[in-house]
Amino acid sequence: MCGIVGYIGHREAYPIVLKGLQRLEYRGYDSAGIALYDGKDLKMSKTKGKVADLKKRLENEISTNGTVGIGHTRWATHGEPNDVNSHPHYSNSGDLVIIHNGIIENYDALKKELKKRGYTFKSETDTEVLVNLIEDVIKKEDVKLGKAVQIALNQTVGAYAIAVFNKKKPDEIVVARLGSPLAIGVGEDEFFVASDASPFIEFTNNAIYLEDGEMAVVRRHKEVKIRKIKDDSLVDPYMHELQLNLEQIEKGGYEHFMLKEIHEQPNAISDTYRGRMLVEKGLIRMAGVDDNMERIANAKRFIIVACGTSWHAGLVAEYIFEDIARIPVEVEYASEFRYRNPVISENDVVIAISQSGETADTMAAIKLAKEKGAFAFGVCNVVGSSISRETNAGAYTHAGPEIGVASTKAFTTQITVLTLMALKLGKFKGTISNSDFQFYLQEMERIPGKIKKALESDELIQKIAFTYKDAPNCLYLGRGYNFPVALEGALKLKEISYIHAEGYPAAEMKHGPIALIDEQMPVVVIATKKGHYEKVVSNIQEIKSRKGKIIAVVTEGDEEVRELADHVIEVPETIESLTPLLTTIPLQLLSYHIAVLLGKNVDQPRNLAKSVTVE
Ligand code: F6R
Repeated sequence: MCGIVGYIGHREAYPIVLKGLQRLEYRGYDSAGIALYDGKDLKMSKTKGKVADLKKRLENEISTNGTVGIGHTRWATHGEPNDVNSHPHYSNSGDLVIIHNGIIENYDALKKELKKRGYTFKSETDTEVLVNLIEDVIKKEDVKLGKAVQIALNQTVGAYAIAVFNKKKPDEIVVARLGSPLAIGVGEDEFFVASDASPFIEFTNNAIYLEDGEMAVVRRHKEVKIRKIKDDSLVDPYMHELQLNLEQIEKGGYEHFMLKEIHEQPNAISDTYRGRMLVEKGLIRMAGVDDNMERIANAKRFIIVACGTSWHAGLVAEYIFEDIARIPVEVEYASEFRYRNPVISENDVVIAISQSGETADTMAAIKLAKEKGAFAFGVCNVVGSSISRETNAGAYTHAGPEIGVASTKAFTTQITVLTLMALKLGKFKGTISNSDFQFYLQEMERIPGKIKKALESDELIQKIAFTYKDAPNCLYLGRGYNFPVALEGALKLKEISYIHAEGYPAAEMKHGPIALIDEQMPVVVIATKKGHYEKVVSNIQEIKSRKGKIIAVVTEGDEEVRELADHVIEVPETIESLTPLLTTIPLQLLSYHIAVLLGKNVDQPRNLAKSVTVE
């Protein structure tokens, strides 16, 4: 979590760093800070709260001149989010300044040592310890900043993406990475450093992504030199040409990123299958699967590891893989999997699903599975992300940047990729007939149009949202393929509107949750025609007889549920296994509208961050 950004070049650093922080705010927004070098001295300003608060403060506080600057937006780990704990942090002499994304786990021991040597600390952060450790190395060993950073980092345990500046050497910024992402944008005689490429996309398409355990000294008028932190060996930098454009990371007329991203789903899904699904030829091409077909198709078992919404996509995939490719699947929370002693063999394929590709627990789960001999396959959205690099093979989702903290298009594109993979494996193994395979491809092609149709219920959903916005609780029920959708609907509601919500398999209701139902309780039920329809209708009747308020998501033209439910939201008909791609849409819109009506910060809900790079 946390976003870091830096600039060194010929332009004013202030607007670049500030705009960069706004773009990285999805990574954390407990506090924000900036340090600028005006040619003579360092100026710093930081505050609890958002980048907008920092901007207000900056206007009165410091001069914003200078061509070097670093900034930070924080998701608090050590120390409460207040002004003092905000980044950047100075060293005791005031010469060095640092920004940091990650956690230095042994900071306490290092701090005690430094205290004995006379260092004092203003904040409770691990980061202030690190910058003083670097200063101590410079003093003790009389080395340059780059070397000092390297020596200091070799004494730390933990994770970091850092940028360090020394006002006595104002032509360089030293950066390093272990476990948290760091990109270097390379322009004409100027450099950018950032947690991802969004802060510099309008200036350059060239980026170097540091690998774990690497550091770089970024110097004016010089080439970037990358070294391994452990042994100082030089690494050849690989220059990526970025595909990202500015429009993709702006709101494009929508009030919130989340709404924009909900509406982007038809395109995001077609971008995800385009070039892979060759309907006329009856083929699916996925290089990551094609190149490893024997290994994947002959797996004894798939183990899917993921967190949050990506875990829900994994649950949908469990149904699809078992249904279509007849491969046994287990779906695990990455955070639980990695701390057990899981039984994994060389015949297992571990599939890691992650929008950001940076989630620390998912990353650790893959490493563990690989150590035990499993083959690791990644389904990520962010190109070049850590998980996409750590896995043996993979398939990107092509959803485009997802900036709203609540995941929407990432979920549906993950399901799309996993469905393609299941179909491809099913065809290879002969567990799906050619005609069914062909029918799936044709139906998949119709999904974007059907999502557009589902989005037309927006106005109706807004009205439903108004009716239930003050409910303290909400229950979501679904069966089969739509059980994970119920979980996802509940997660969306709680994370952006702070209303307590629970998702349940509909049949489980009578084993406990039914006790919660009274006339105050809204129950969202997914009751599409394909998928245990009659059973779900019985569940709806059970709710009705206890006076619960029923909001049903049904197949177009359904009259039976309309008779029973208080509200019905229609989605077009499709194959059962593709229904999650449609039924998810009204649930996303419902939580969006409730949150807006309650005046919540939809794109940046409290306490959350988009990219969870801490364990
Ligand atoms: C919910 C949400 C989170 C993420 C989770 C995993 O809307 O966004 O639950 O799904 O933090 O993140 P990724 O997919 O980046 O690994």
